[in-house]
Amino acid sequence: MKLNPIIAGNWKMFKTGKEAVEFISVFAPKVKNSSVDIYIAPPFTAIYQAAAAAKGSSILIGAQNMHAEQEGAYTGEISAGMIKAAGAEFVILGHSERRQHFHETDEGVNLKVKSALKAGLIVILCVGEMQSEHDQGLTEEVLRRQIEGGLKDITAEEAASLVIAYEPVWAIGTGKTATPELAESAHAFIRKLLTEQYGEKLASQISILYGGSVKPELTPDLMEMPNINGALVGGASLKIETFAAIVAGATK
Ligand code: PGA
Repeated sequence: MKLNPIIAGNWKMFKTGKEAVEFISVFAPKVKNSSVDIYIAPPFTAIYQAAAAAKGSSILIGAQNMHAEQEGAYTGEISAGMIKAAGAEFVILGHSERRQHFHETDEGVNLKVKSALKAGLIVILCVGEMQSEHDQGLTEEVLRRQIEGGLKDITAEEAASLVIAYEPVWAIGTGKTATPELAESAHAFIRKLLTEQYGEKLASQISILYGGSVKPELTPDLMEMPNINGALVGGASLKIETFAAIVAGATK
């Protein structure tokens, strides 16, 4: 069974609330008839306005990060309940930029995954190896550590709201997209890890997205692969035309 494709945009630290509303008001009509599940993660400050603008469309709005605690004395932080109340329906966790620049560990990501699922959010858990790990042939070892660590003690029931994004760090923002075959082999390995933890049936229902320099012209070939169920798109999700073209490329 081929899962319905998910195309998710990660806007990173780009766009104000006003810019998000302008984007969505033009983008939503363009993808109105698409059967693809479309997710957009703007910065925290734009979630409320983006969710209001996306109301009535099939676009889901989410966040790019959150704190694991529900509330407390954590200056500058934002919880799962807060993003949910602002209109988020999903959250991206463990993105490589969070791991690299903000020292996030698998243990810390795991706490966030638990908290987000408890709050009723869909979680996009990001995994992927760095260039040096790739060169040393350590991809599967890294994926095992990140998947097993990130999903520690996550029950099968909770895993039903889980999406995995395979994002090789060497492909993010570099223009160097992984070949469909290379991505497929990593995705198949991730599926195997999910099968070990949750059994074949549930593992086959968890979407695994590819991320890293996804472009419109490469989307159809990536989507042909049996274990690639969609894409997590950074740079190319910031422009209406390219993001709409990626959605179109995933529609079949
Ligand atoms: P990119 O980013 O598409 O700009 O490579 C992907 C991501 O970081 O999720």
